[in-house]
Amino acid sequence: MEHGVSRIGVVGAGQMGGGIAQVAAVSGFGAVVHDASAEALDRAKALHEKLLNRAVEKERMTRDEADAALARISYAPSLDGLAGCDWVVEAIVEDLAVKRELFGRLAQMFTDDRVALASNTSSISITALAAAANDAAPRVVGMHFFNPVPVMKLVEVIRGVQTADEIVARTVALAEAMGKTPLKANDRAGFVSNRVLMPMINEAFRAWMEGVAEPEAIDGIMTLGCNHPMGPLRLADFIGLDTCEHIMNVLHRELGEARFAPCPLLRQLVAAGRLGDKTGRGVYDHSKR
Ligand code: 3HC
Repeated sequence: MEHGVSRIGVVGAGQMGGGIAQVAAVSGFGAVVHDASAEALDRAKALHEKLLNRAVEKERMTRDEADAALARISYAPSLDGLAGCDWVVEAIVEDLAVKRELFGRLAQMFTDDRVALASNTSSISITALAAAANDAAPRVVGMHFFNPVPVMKLVEVIRGVQTADEIVARTVALAEAMGKTPLKANDRAGFVSNRVLMPMINEAFRAWMEGVAEPEAIDGIMTLGCNHPMGPLRLADFIGLDTCEHIMNVLHRELGEARFAPCPLLRQLVAAGRLGDKTGRGVYDHSKR
């Protein structure tokens, strides 16, 4: 199946949206990133320049290739700037009401039934987002990238109840053209990645809370003994403790089992504002890094 895409619109210029736009541009696609925050757009642009300059220094691409990729990305302060894109990936805040509103607007803007409305959500139901897109519901699909997007190989492709087979097949083709490995999952809470990853992270918090071991030992055991690139508590800091708590809440609510309840210690650190790398402190102190 051909993906039939040349220009990808990305809504949200945070870490995930910025990464998706970068990967799209490096793979030869035009990319338009929209964010209502001018600072977020500036930060994304500066990071694109920094990462592609580094790629040149490391001889992973030539100066000309990096310049061409940068020239393929444009930054749009208004959603209308996405007009003319033939695929859209949403990567905004994980809030169902905010996303539903956006999918309603995207459905009005993009009436061509070749244009998919994809979501990078890690925990929100694709079926619920599709319902907000009315007639465009068959074009709504999950396209779940992983952080850091330029490095991580996987795209988890999520089929909502309404998603058309053709859109799923084109999502797979597009992810491959972006240099990723797509793997399909159905629309259940946490899909596969967070259904399996988050309870492991939550369990690491429980082990710490119960005094089984200190964080360094828990992480060391999982890196050295199980070959994880980061231990679960270090990974929680990297992802954001608030995001981990949010995903556990979704699993708990949707799957209805006590084993998915967020660990009290995780909840407490979030309440204390210790959210991980982004606030300088989570399980570990990152302020000096
Ligand atoms: N953006 C772009 N490139 C980055 C990067 C970033 N933010 N961070 C690291 N890199 C690149 C580096 O430039 C380097 O590239 P090079 O080898 O070509 O020079 C390469 O990644 C390795 O980086 P480092 O040598 O600095 O560090 P590590 O070898 O420790 O790797 C890591 C860093 C890739 C982050 C690794 O520790 C890792 O894989 N950690 C686990 C990440 C993970 O599990 N992510 C998934 C999170 S879950 C998620 O996203 C889903 C959501 O729904 C919650």
